[in-house]
Amino acid sequence: MNKVAKKIKNLHIVQNYRSIYPYVKPYWIRALLAILVTFPVGTMDAVIAWSLKPYTDVVMIEKNLSSSAYIPLLIIVFSVLQSGFNYSASYLNAWAGAKISNGLKHDLLRKLMRCEAAFFDKSASGFIQMRFNTDVDTACSGLLRHVNIFTTRIFSSLSLIGVLFVNSWQLAIVAMIVLIIALYPLSTIRKRISSIVGKTLFSSAGIATYYIEAFNGNRIIMSYNLYDYQMQRFSSTLEEAFRLGIKMVQRTGILSPMMHSVISIGIAAIIWMGGYLIANHQLTAGGFVSFITAVLLLYQPVKSMGNDFNSVQQSLIAMERVFELLKKAPAIMSKQNAVRLESIKNSIEYKGVEFEYAKGNPTLKKVNLKIKIGQTVALVGNSGGGKTTFVNLLPRFYDIKSGSIMIDGLDIRDLELDSLRAKIAVVFQDNFLFTGTIRENILLGKEKASVSELNLAVESACLSEFVKNLDKGLDTEIGERGILLSGGQKQRVAIARAFLKNAPIVILDEATSSLDNKSEAVVQRAIENLMKDRTVFIVAHRLSTVKNADKIVVINNGEIVESGVHRTLIAKKNGIYASLYNTQLI
Ligand SMILES: Nc1ncnc2c1ncn2[C@@H]1O[C@H](COP(=O)(O)OP(=O)(O)OP(=O)(O)O)[C@@H](O)[C@H]1O
Ligand SMILES: [Mg+2]
Repeated sequence: MNKVAKKIKNLHIVQNYRSIYPYVKPYWIRALLAILVTFPVGTMDAVIAWSLKPYTDVVMIEKNLSSSAYIPLLIIVFSVLQSGFNYSASYLNAWAGAKISNGLKHDLLRKLMRCEAAFFDKSASGFIQMRFNTDVDTACSGLLRHVNIFTTRIFSSLSLIGVLFVNSWQLAIVAMIVLIIALYPLSTIRKRISSIVGKTLFSSAGIATYYIEAFNGNRIIMSYNLYDYQMQRFSSTLEEAFRLGIKMVQRTGILSPMMHSVISIGIAAIIWMGGYLIANHQLTAGGFVSFITAVLLLYQPVKSMGNDFNSVQQSLIAMERVFELLKKAPAIMSKQNAVRLESIKNSIEYKGVEFEYAKGNPTLKKVNLKIKIGQTVALVGNSGGGKTTFVNLLPRFYDIKSGSIMIDGLDIRDLELDSLRAKIAVVFQDNFLFTGTIRENILLGKEKASVSELNLAVESACLSEFVKNLDKGLDTEIGERGILLSGGQKQRVAIARAFLKNAPIVILDEATSSLDNKSEAVVQRAIENLMKDRTVFIVAHRLSTVKNADKIVVINNGEIVESGVHRTLIAKKNGIYASLYNTQLI
């Protein structure tokens, strides 16, 4: 790595420290105390080493017992104190670490929910889960714990180095040279691991994705007997994770043994030189015992520092990833001086709208459509033609590539995003329901709805009969993702939710094709109720539901190929709508 790149990398770390400061700020006293406590914990090792000199010289050699009583006592007192401080350090660390990571997780979830739809299209759920849970913990609690261990070691090392110099400066210099040689490889560790750490994260996220798929896709797995297929793919992901794990050990595992060897050579040199100094009366026996104890206490943590440093680096890398996401500006958000959309008076217009999910692969090609407020427009056409995409552009789930979408002559990109979305109720092809009761799910449309409003929504969504037959009525739990409800029931809960929202624009991406005739008729009634007095975009698979629309638009392969009312379209010879309609009648 050249110098400039190194500087930039270091700057990055400084920036991350600056970014984490607001999260540390509310708890800074405890975080600081956690670090300060490491000072006495660290220096106490030196006290023990230092006291061995008078003990050896006075008690063991001169056989003067006058000081023999207080030295062990001193050691006991210090050890008890050390344990107390150790306990406070881990308590304070755990407390501050967890609080800081909670703060970060809070902001991460807020950020995640604001991310644009394309972000979710691209990210695997395992990856997101990993980043939001594991990374934050590694970054915060992990970092604090390791900083704590690190500072303890630094204080301990500094005071032990003091003991070394007090006893013999010549031996101390030798010990220091050995220490510097032993520590040198640590400076290369970041370079060694950073490329693998990223890949390791990816493969662990991959593993998590399989568990999520086993959960969410259990019916498909059962019905297609996908056990072996999934296991095979899982094995190769596991194998990849193993390979990376081993690579990590290969690159870092060598450090500790290397340091161990250097240090052993150092200790051998010190013992050899120490004997020489004692023989020349430049060092007392007690001084030597105290010195060698201090050296052993000093080198012990140094030997494991390779691993500690490794963990600190991993925490820093996790922190970089967390902040990379936190600093990411959502691709779709309100402009600075966006206009609040208060009411819609005239029209909605798509003008030369082009859209693509992937570059160079247009999904909608120069689409034009204008409808007046209060009208219903029905979108029909081949599967994958772009109907869902077309309606998803209005609430800005995705932004268009060129052209414009206007409400009352205002480009929707100039409107306040929340105010735009507040005016649109969407019933999707596949509706997501939250864990909780039917009531809770419907109330998402309007949190503070009155009982009569709620009852009206239930009634209009044709849910009353179904709810009446339930023991707990509206308070029935629907399971995760609404798994305990049928397709039609789920659809109607979503419709009731849209009712409560009472938005002037309704987007209905019909999923009636998956329902049987009887439930389709009920859902159909609910949909018709929802359409009353609103501006409606309805994606319809059953053409019987679109006959009464003010405008029917046929979208095939990203283009509007026909539009008009039912009567004129059906009369067209060789018309696409006419032939679609006729095939469905059979
Ligand atoms: N999130 C996405 N990322 C990338 N491509 C997508 C995404 N969603 C849809 N597509 C692609 O865009 C095209 C249009 O899809 P769209 O869902 O709009 O079709 P549709 O007309 O609603 O079809 P259907 O009647 O089957 O619901 C398809 O080719 C589809 O593969
Ligand atoms: Mg669709």
